[in-house]
Amino acid sequence: MPKKEHIAVVVSAVTQLTPRIREYLLAAGDGRPLPAYEAGSHIEVLINPEGIGETVRHYSLIGGTETIDDGRSAYRIAVQREDRARGSAHIHHTLEVGSQLAISAPKNEFRLDHRDSKSLLIAGGIGITPIFAMLRSLVQRRRPFGMAYTGRSRGEMAYVDAVQRLAGPHAHIHCNDEGGLLDVKALLAAQPAHTSAYVCGPAALIDAVRHAAAELGWDTQRVRSELFTPPPTGDEVAFDVVLKQSGQTIRVGANTSILDALKNAGQHPLFDCRRGECGLCPLGILEADGPITHRDRYLSDAEKASGKTLCVCVSRLQGSRLVLDA
Ligand code: FES
Repeated sequence: MPKKEHIAVVVSAVTQLTPRIREYLLAAGDGRPLPAYEAGSHIEVLINPEGIGETVRHYSLIGGTETIDDGRSAYRIAVQREDRARGSAHIHHTLEVGSQLAISAPKNEFRLDHRDSKSLLIAGGIGITPIFAMLRSLVQRRRPFGMAYTGRSRGEMAYVDAVQRLAGPHAHIHCNDEGGLLDVKALLAAQPAHTSAYVCGPAALIDAVRHAAAELGWDTQRVRSELFTPPPTGDEVAFDVVLKQSGQTIRVGANTSILDALKNAGQHPLFDCRRGECGLCPLGILEADGPITHRDRYLSDAEKASGKTLCVCVSRLQGSRLVLDA
């Protein structure tokens, strides 16, 4: 059930950006202004793809077109359909103009620091969504910036023409099918001292930027990143979670996280990021009748290998019964 802190919105426009990416414009259901936000913010979208309880997807707020801000009249998100991920496929299949849904207020864990002497924006694939908002902000404020946008091919890169026009001579569009992988070390090495990098995209790109920055002696604070929640792999199975303290058994659907299943069952687990990064949600494992698929970036390899804990926001069981110390 949507809660009172959620915002009711209605889809006011749908645009196909690439074969796999659709843009959705969401307007407040009551016509009132939506909460303000800054570049880098995201919203949570509640969906119920399996009909057994809500689950949450995060989408960055794009903030406008190339030149026109959305202001507070609408939120603009772009959803890439992952062929084996039922959440994004559910959105593509079910959301159309007039559809109603519940979202959270914007949250920002990926802020532009307005004191940067130069901001270097790096986007990989659908990671362009928060970066495009940052680019618009930097251009509007006339701040020094660089812009690198990489993807598999130009036809798969949302907003690529708008990015090129907005960033002008500062745009570096890199298509892997033409030039192989982006040379992030060369990109970072060409920056003036004290540049800050903002990177959003797949884990491999973020890791490459962090690795190159370390090799070049950059202060770690000068690289800020936002990882996309890893898409489901498609081999997720439904299973039961048993809570030791109450003995309660809770069904976790194949497309629902343990965290969402616990919340839907009236539990109040600790959590924050929902991406396997903050470390607030791990619970102890007492029994598992199958392997655990760890998908977080918080637990160490040794902790994952121990089989004694898991991040319930993103990790799951490949089995049928998981007993948690909760
Ligand atoms: S909620 Fe942050 S790691 Fe799970």
